[in-house]
Amino acid sequence: MSMPEGTGSVAVVTGGTSGIGRLLARDLAADGMTVAVVGRSETRGAALVSDTEGLEGAIRFHRTDLSTRNAVRSLARELLTTYDRIDVLVHNAGCSSSRRVETEDGFELTLAVNHLAPYLLTHELLDRLVASAPARIVVTASGIHTRASLEFDDLGCEREYDALDAYARSKLANIAFTVELADRLPTESGVTANCVHPGFIPSTNLFRDSSLRTRLLIRAAALVPGVGTTEREGAERLRSLVMDPMYGDRTGEYVTGDGPTAPSAEATDPAVREMLWNVSADLVGVDPDWP
Ligand SMILES: NC(=O)c1ccc[n+]([C@@H]2O[C@H](COP(=O)([O-])OP(=O)(O)OC[C@H]3O[C@@H](n4cnc5c(N)ncnc54)[C@H](OP(=O)(O)O)[C@@H]3O)[C@@H](O)[C@H]2O)c1
Repeated sequence: MSMPEGTGSVAVVTGGTSGIGRLLARDLAADGMTVAVVGRSETRGAALVSDTEGLEGAIRFHRTDLSTRNAVRSLARELLTTYDRIDVLVHNAGCSSSRRVETEDGFELTLAVNHLAPYLLTHELLDRLVASAPARIVVTASGIHTRASLEFDDLGCEREYDALDAYARSKLANIAFTVELADRLPTESGVTANCVHPGFIPSTNLFRDSSLRTRLLIRAAALVPGVGTTEREGAERLRSLVMDPMYGDRTGEYVTGDGPTAPSAEATDPAVREMLWNVSADLVGVDPDWP
């Protein structure tokens, strides 16, 4: 498999309105791609679209709140109508919430946005990716997944809610999903799926809804020399999964600053991956027997 060409290719980047996703969207557009940015903020979306300086390609904005299944399905329809090819799908949108919030669908918000939305959007767009192959799916995970366990009897954290645990669990789900997807995708599909830990990047907006205590902890951790990563470095890690020829061939990898790295044992456990796949299919209302 080769890499997606810059010029003429289409990349969908969720969470492209802020932080590392915003930088990635601009980088890919600078490489000549048409980048479909997905996010909620109309203001930030419009600012991205209007700032065309240095871009060989273009950025388009698709305003969507990814927290509900209807919104994800309607986004998928919009993308399929607007773009006759999709070469790259980057699931980068992510959130962390200080208190337990339920979405309109009745799911815990962090799980819904960080895991269920990528699951459903991939399901809806996969045929177009295969038709555009070689194509890549990239998921922004996190090293924090190592502190989590997928408790299938309480995926929505109803028993007890801790913001960091809920976030870490959703990031573990990101990796288990990516590894399972890569396993299920036949080589002939020409589509690879990899995920990345972008580093600890205290400067983004990720923790804007976190408690004061968490925000103070993050600010303190950021002061420890060598702990934090810049948004530019984080975006470069994502970009390498999109553009580096290596990830046109390798699939199912979890990539950190040290390159392909072993995630926690739970993330690659076949039984956990299959269970997550089936539970997710049930929650978003699709047949689990895909791709
Ligand atoms: N920062 C870190 O230390 C760190 C570490 C490891 C992994 N990550 C991961 O990196 C990714 C990017 O985060 P970031 O640090 O760059 O944070 P960020 O600046 O807050 O960016 C998050 C992006 O996700 C979008 N988003 C959040 N909730 C959404 C929703 N309901 N519907 C649609 N879009 C939504 C935001 O869009 P709007 O602003 O337009 O709503 C924004 O574009 C996340 O997946 C995060 O988990 C971050």
